[in-house]
Amino acid sequence: MNAEKKIAVVTGAASGIGKATANAFAQAGFRVFGLDIDVQGAARVEAEFVQQYGKDAFTFVEVDLSQRDSILQASQTILNQVTSVDAIVNAAGWDRIEPFVNNTPEFMDKVIQINLMGPMTLTKALLPSMIQAGSGKIVNVASDAGRVGSMGETVYAAAKGGMIAFTKSLAREMARYQIHVNCVCPGPTDTPLFHAQPDKLKEALLKVIPFKRLAKPEETASAILFFATDKSNYVTAQIMSVSGGLTMVG
Ligand SMILES: NC(=O)c1ccc[n+]([C@@H]2O[C@H](COP(=O)([O-])OP(=O)(O)OC[C@H]3O[C@@H](n4cnc5c(N)ncnc54)[C@H](O)[C@@H]3O)[C@@H](O)[C@H]2O)c1
Repeated sequence: MNAEKKIAVVTGAASGIGKATANAFAQAGFRVFGLDIDVQGAARVEAEFVQQYGKDAFTFVEVDLSQRDSILQASQTILNQVTSVDAIVNAAGWDRIEPFVNNTPEFMDKVIQINLMGPMTLTKALLPSMIQAGSGKIVNVASDAGRVGSMGETVYAAAKGGMIAFTKSLAREMARYQIHVNCVCPGPTDTPLFHAQPDKLKEALLKVIPFKRLAKPEETASAILFFATDKSNYVTAQIMSVSGGLTMVG
């Protein structure tokens, strides 16, 4: 293994934005630990990236972000192989469109666990290595739902709004260690998560995006990579929408 390589941990690496981000990191010369619950999808990604970028480019680590023990185990698996992590990207997420009044307690718990508690638990487990190193980049992937709300995604929006607030507060706490914490809010993006939404909603969204098209996952990954590299060394606590102009938040 090349000891010079920077280390990135990317959740949700089996699909969509997480996969595109893992690809961008591997291309930029990072060694990527890709975390996901989807073992088969991640195995395909691992095979693809190892073939393209070499055998130390991508390592899959299974995790269920709704389970604290699973997160702690995955973190330990990483820290058994490297002394510190240079970048953490909390990209995994999950939701289903459904009116708030129909949400069951189990559904609400699952949405909060995967989209808010899981990322916070993973970040907390990996942070001591960054603090020790006196450097690090944390990039949270929230959603414009967390900035402006979203019909049928009330608990998801609450979780993503939580990720935005988590980003800002953690950035304040971590600045003294030269650890940067920023957040990317994707708008409608061409991934399986978006395509699982009802057709009527997808059509309506497309009409109101100023660019009149979905984001490509690679376009969101570019913004994530910016926050994870030296190009953003004086930037922390920032929330960037990558939404084709759909949301214009001051
Ligand atoms: N696609 C969009 O339109 C859109 C819009 C706004 C925000 N986002 C956010 O972007 C991020 C990436 O979404 P995407 O569109 O690439 O979705 P995706 O469904 O393509 O990928 C999400 C990944 O997260 C993984 N995942 C789901 N539950 C998990 C769990 N319990 N433990 C570990 N991994 C789990 C999935 O297996 C999958 O590989 C998410 O945080 C999502 O909320 C997406």
